Amino acid sequence: MTIHIGAETGQIAETVLLPGDPYRAKWAAETFLTEVQQVNNVRGMLGFTGFWNGHRVTIQGSGMGMPSLSIYVNELIKDYGAKTLIRIGSCGGMQENVGVRDIILAMTASTLSTPSRGIFKELNFAPSADYGLLHKAFHAAQAKGTPTHVGGIYSSDVFYDERPDLNEQMVRHGILGVEMEAAELYILAARHKCRALAVLTVSDHLLTGEALPSDQRESSFGDMVEIALEAAFA
Ligand code: ADE
Repeated sequence: MTIHIGAETGQIAETVLLPGDPYRAKWAAETFLTEVQQVNNVRGMLGFTGFWNGHRVTIQGSGMGMPSLSIYVNELIKDYGAKTLIRIGSCGGMQENVGVRDIILAMTASTLSTPSRGIFKELNFAPSADYGLLHKAFHAAQAKGTPTHVGGIYSSDVFYDERPDLNEQMVRHGILGVEMEAAELYILAARHKCRALAVLTVSDHLLTGEALPSDQRESSFGDMVEIALEAAFA
């Protein structure tokens, strides 16, 4: 057990999928895995371990924002030996050619600050995805026929941003979408020699104001789970 995860040693798999929402972790485990065992319910941040095509995998909620994700990912890596960590979540679209429902595979994650920011001092570290995971996820996503974009995203600390100028600069510099977790995931993976990737569905769009209706979010989420599993094990 750790401070935030109640699993016993050995109950967490080396491959962990990380949705922000704990209820999505439950839905994904019940929908895609066999022999499912609930391994965490501390603070309601549900986690489950089971098997996909014979491969052992954990699906653990990360919460919203980098401080929350950082707690779970630190403990998953340092205390439970997780080696491959894939975020599955939503993002806001930031380019005209990126549509709602499209998939974004985050090659890099720009950020203003992360829980790790202090260790870099004046250096601007470039958090990036594991290329092997990215490559496999791209082919898995393309096979589904969903429009898929690979490129930089922006990991923000604020959802209700009072600094629209910052979003404008991200758009101007070709950033595909905004979410709130990937940069810290990539930094922690780099620090601990793990593999990481963020697979994201565009749930809303900053330029058009369009938003994915809630009844369509589940099927997009299912696609992301399958893409992440194929990236990890295919
Ligand atoms: N996640 C989904 N949409 C988002 C947005 N517009 N900003 C930040 N995170 C998001």
